[in-house]
Amino acid sequence: MKKMTSKELRKAWINFYLERGHIDIGQTSLIGDGTTGVLFNVAGMQPLMPYLLGQKHPSGKTRLCNIQGCVRTNDIESIGDSSHVSFFEMMGSWSLGDYFKEERTKWSYELLTQVFGLPQDRLAATVFEGNESVPRDDETAKLREKSGFLKENIYYLPKSDNWWELERGPCGPDSEMFYITDKPACGPDCNPSCSCGHYVEVGNDVFMQYERIDDDKYIPLKQKNVDTGWGFERILAFLNTNGDVYLTDLFEGAIRILEQASGKKYNENKSDTYSMRIVADHIRTSVMLLGDKAHLVPSNIGAGYILRRLIRRAVRHAKILNIPTTVFEKLVNFYIDDVYGEFYEGLTESKEFVLTELNKEVKKFENTLSAGIKEFEKVTRNMVAGDKLDGANSFRLYDTFGFPVELTEELAKERGLSVDVEGFNQKFKEHQERSRGNIATFKGGLESTGEMETKYHTATHLLNAALKVVVNPDTHQMGSNITAERLRFDFNCDHKLTDEEKAAVQKLVNDWIKQDLTVTKTYMKKEDAVKSGAECMFLEKYPDEVSVYTIGDVSKELCGGPHVEHTGVLGEFVIQKEESSSSGVRRIKAILK
Ligand code: SER
Repeated sequence: MKKMTSKELRKAWINFYLERGHIDIGQTSLIGDGTTGVLFNVAGMQPLMPYLLGQKHPSGKTRLCNIQGCVRTNDIESIGDSSHVSFFEMMGSWSLGDYFKEERTKWSYELLTQVFGLPQDRLAATVFEGNESVPRDDETAKLREKSGFLKENIYYLPKSDNWWELERGPCGPDSEMFYITDKPACGPDCNPSCSCGHYVEVGNDVFMQYERIDDDKYIPLKQKNVDTGWGFERILAFLNTNGDVYLTDLFEGAIRILEQASGKKYNENKSDTYSMRIVADHIRTSVMLLGDKAHLVPSNIGAGYILRRLIRRAVRHAKILNIPTTVFEKLVNFYIDDVYGEFYEGLTESKEFVLTELNKEVKKFENTLSAGIKEFEKVTRNMVAGDKLDGANSFRLYDTFGFPVELTEELAKERGLSVDVEGFNQKFKEHQERSRGNIATFKGGLESTGEMETKYHTATHLLNAALKVVVNPDTHQMGSNITAERLRFDFNCDHKLTDEEKAAVQKLVNDWIKQDLTVTKTYMKKEDAVKSGAECMFLEKYPDEVSVYTIGDVSKELCGGPHVEHTGVLGEFVIQKEESSSSGVRRIKAILK
């Protein structure tokens, strides 16, 4: 095994590909742009979807590589062990209809053994076992063996393990590579899909040959691509620290700061080590999100809500370690000055912003944290293991003490209790309805992201319809992009909208919202939808059977949905910006309040 610093590993990855005709395409924002329905960039391939689907890459090249920051918070509860992190970097490389399995498998083995120096008998690989639509990937299994993997370390696994896809877009069978650790196998049937820690994934090679156009509908792609994503932190940890990412140079300085401030030693006892990892991880991810080009800030919805949860959880674990949150400033300095500033454009310049926003959120929560914990203890005092904290109390902890319900769940779990999350959501809704009637004293709300995006879909249809009434019956959607925080809508139009036009569009949408129009969904054949006069843009992207959404008698549009049932729940529609998108195309950004 070759010891390498994080900076050396970055260089080694990029150089390997430059030598093989690739170009380094650099990084994009960590915050999802709304096109894939995910809040954050979760994989290096995410911004490359159009090119994997066949569009020419702006560089004109077909071999690309980079190291892309990603955020995945779906397993935030696993953080605290030695390998999970919420922000991670993915070392990526792509063939856009260029080379395929032969080169890919050869290079993967070269990387693992020659560049990283991992021993052959510590490597395992998995390949797709096939299903009714796609055959077993014998070719990759053979090529893995030819490249140097031991036959007995190659496993065939089902779609749940060996298929890469997002909600929509390019996808295909994958072949993952694993490092076999010193941790003993959990039993005779232990294989790489097992989470016991004997096998740890280090990389994934995806053979993208399909496009997912519906939940279970796939069509072959025109070109065969390779999408590669290898875990930067994981590999660094195996090369240097026996698998503990928190001891690599990406974290080590942070752990030292926490040791000093707390007077405790990392790895001396389980619970302090757990809290140190949570603080180190969550502050690191918060720094990367606040310092991102998109300048995310904590809020009660969507990506901003995840950021809020990360910061508040870090505050609680800092208290457990008995360290003042002023120490966070040292952590921010370490991450920006020593680790990431050099590689993330704009991060160093954003340091003041990161510190100010982090501090604001920390202060907001610190003021109520101890009182909230006391309150939690009071309301659970007479409970016994297995009991459930009711919705009313968990909502009060949120509303009065700023406890995200996930934090209350964590506190409950530590005492063997659970939380009635449905009851919480119900209380939340009631509160929101009351507040709306009360001239919106309560802003934002803790609506789930799904709900907000639903809402924005419906608002987009109303906007589309209002533009036809106010501006020109021939305006059509040219593009749309929805996040939990706003909608963005592009439409054909030969002039900048006047203030009067903007006001009239906004008013019309709000009138329709107030009328609480019913939204209905019908299924029909694509050609019938066209005949019925439904707005049908990008027709070729839809399957033969389509859903058409009708809103009162103001809008009829072909759409994948989802939508709300009544427009009354949308709240107030506000146009924030109207600008040019490209020649003859205008863009509106709007929010719901
Ligand atoms: N898209 C694949 C992954 O995220 C490989 O890059 O694992």
